[in-house]
Amino acid sequence: MMSDEAIIIKWKAPSNIALIKYWGKKGHQLPENCSLSFSLEKSVTITSHAFQKKHQPDNRITLEYYFHGQRNPSFEKKIALFLNDLISKMPFLADYMLVFRSENNFPHSTGIASSASSMSALALCLVSMEEIIWQKKLSSDDFFRRASVIARLGSGSASRSVYGGLVTWGESPFVAASSDEYATPFPLSKESRLRQISDIILIVTSKEKKVSSTLGHSLMKQHPFREGRIDQANKNMHQITLAIRNNDYHTLAAIAENEALSLHALLMTSSPDGLLLKPNTLSIIEAIRRFRDQSGLDLFFTIDAGPNVHLIYFEDQRHWVLPFVKEVLSLFCENGQWIDDKIGAGPQLLTPKIKF
Ligand code: PMV
Repeated sequence: MMSDEAIIIKWKAPSNIALIKYWGKKGHQLPENCSLSFSLEKSVTITSHAFQKKHQPDNRITLEYYFHGQRNPSFEKKIALFLNDLISKMPFLADYMLVFRSENNFPHSTGIASSASSMSALALCLVSMEEIIWQKKLSSDDFFRRASVIARLGSGSASRSVYGGLVTWGESPFVAASSDEYATPFPLSKESRLRQISDIILIVTSKEKKVSSTLGHSLMKQHPFREGRIDQANKNMHQITLAIRNNDYHTLAAIAENEALSLHALLMTSSPDGLLLKPNTLSIIEAIRRFRDQSGLDLFFTIDAGPNVHLIYFEDQRHWVLPFVKEVLSLFCENGQWIDDKIGAGPQLLTPKIKF
């Protein structure tokens, strides 16, 4: 099977949105607290990875990185740094010329984490490459766990994007087989209503946010509320697992909103601070809460480290939610723009399975 010809692998991987937020890290890309997210269905990155043996191995990473068909020097630099760090785990990387072509099917800076989908797609390609180089097929569990570890090293939240559905990352006494090193799928019963959880992303602004999550995580090290945050996240994780088990959507909503607002409270009280919420973010939050009180529907909001709002609801109530989005919430959105997404099944290999 191994020849001198280039081999191409292509993976599609989703972004995800956290209900319990990962905020602050320790050690080598390990989380200070356990997080919980769901993978999206439509907001995905597709990455194709071509690799060909070098004639003369030189012990260093050689790569080209194309984003939406254009060679992208700034992404190329970041990926080269990431892959250089990976050589200790995947020494074969230095023996090949690597070409990545990546595309997101969602707009940049919209509140959808592109690092989660792109780093998980990349990690999946690398683990597929590893199987081919070592001529060893991993079990499905081992494959995705390894991909989650590799994705985590690129971007913490990407560790969760190698799975579909609800996913946790970070050690927690309330989640079986949880680990700081990799994410774990959160089991849902067949009847669970969370299987139809949906997400409308309301674009308040598509301008680049001012605080990167890398900076935000590092500011948590000296944050005056650091201990309190870790404690809060652990309690919220416990409460949300109970709420999911008991189909208690009221508590689920309260915890998710508390997490989103806590993330921004932490940002606002960091030094330097990050004030990312916009007046229209607050108007959307107020409108969602008012509508929930009036309608009694099970919906709530969450927000990432930016100004855009995710409206989370259940598909069986979509016919009530859509008119509200179109008639009320879209008025607060930049050019009336919003993205329609929902929980998804996880990554997909788009090239034929390699036979060993
Ligand atoms: O994966 P990072 O380093 O971009 O951090 C993501 C942090 C949040 O998106 C704010 C929360 C989360 O758990 O996804």
